[in-house]
Amino acid sequence: MTEIPEHLLKRSKERRAAIGGDDAPAAEATPGEAVEATATPAAAPAAAAPAAPAVPEPAPAPEPVRPEVAAALSRRKIPYWAMPVLAGLPLWAYVFWTTLEPPPGPTDTPLALGQQVYSGCSSCHGPTGDGGVGPAFDGVEETWPDYRDHMMWVRLGSTGWPEDTYGANDKPKNGGMPAFPSLSDEELAQVVLYERVAFGGMDPASPEAIELEEVAHGEKTFAEMELGPESAEAGVDPAELNGG
Ligand code: HEC
Repeated sequence: MTEIPEHLLKRSKERRAAIGGDDAPAAEATPGEAVEATATPAAAPAAAAPAAPAVPEPAPAPEPVRPEVAAALSRRKIPYWAMPVLAGLPLWAYVFWTTLEPPPGPTDTPLALGQQVYSGCSSCHGPTGDGGVGPAFDGVEETWPDYRDHMMWVRLGSTGWPEDTYGANDKPKNGGMPAFPSLSDEELAQVVLYERVAFGGMDPASPEAIELEEVAHGEKTFAEMELGPESAEAGVDPAELNGG
């Protein structure tokens, strides 16, 4: 068996420690060799570092700017005096637009037409349906749960209504509600739709609103819808369906 010289053993141990193969701590190395081993890799970047700033990037020479260009660049884009004018522009545009446009919203929907018919009712029932000589309309759906009875009541008025009470809640009839025989089926449906939706809280997408719109459009007649339950109970002549 050959004797391996001491310094070779040590070097091999260090080597293994360096590549992490062994658990031998580097501290076991002799101070002299450790310095030699670690100093070499550390020295390399240290030597390379000062080389980087040695060649500084030459700053691009600023292009000479002509005086009028410099003035244009530094000038405010919008002059001060124009600020209030520009601020007022949207308002002006809005005012201008409203003078051009007809009254906002379509005017030929059943609801809009109903609002027009309602101008013949507002003097007694109030422009917002809150009542006056006639009752307010916030409870109109309790009085007339079925829109067909509501329609017939408006066609006949207090005098034409056969009973002494009216409505599903049997309100005492005091009189004063005029008959409206001149209103067509369409107009009757329009104003009833308006009163129920605008004041009575009826859902404009509900099935009865759709039916009212059909009559309001002239797609169906009041006669096709037949008498409502309150009208039938009160003994309204079915011939009244064809009036107007
Ligand atoms: C001259 C006033 C007057 C005008 C115009 C008038 N009404 Fe009336 N209306 C009354 C009075 C008064 C009553 C209560 C009737 C009664 O007690 O006999 C009434 C009751 C009603 C009711 C029952 C409401 C409830 O809940 O008790 C409805 C619905 C109604 N009117 C709809 C109309 C419609 C629709 C018009 C327009 C097309 C109209 N009225 C125009 C005076 C008026």
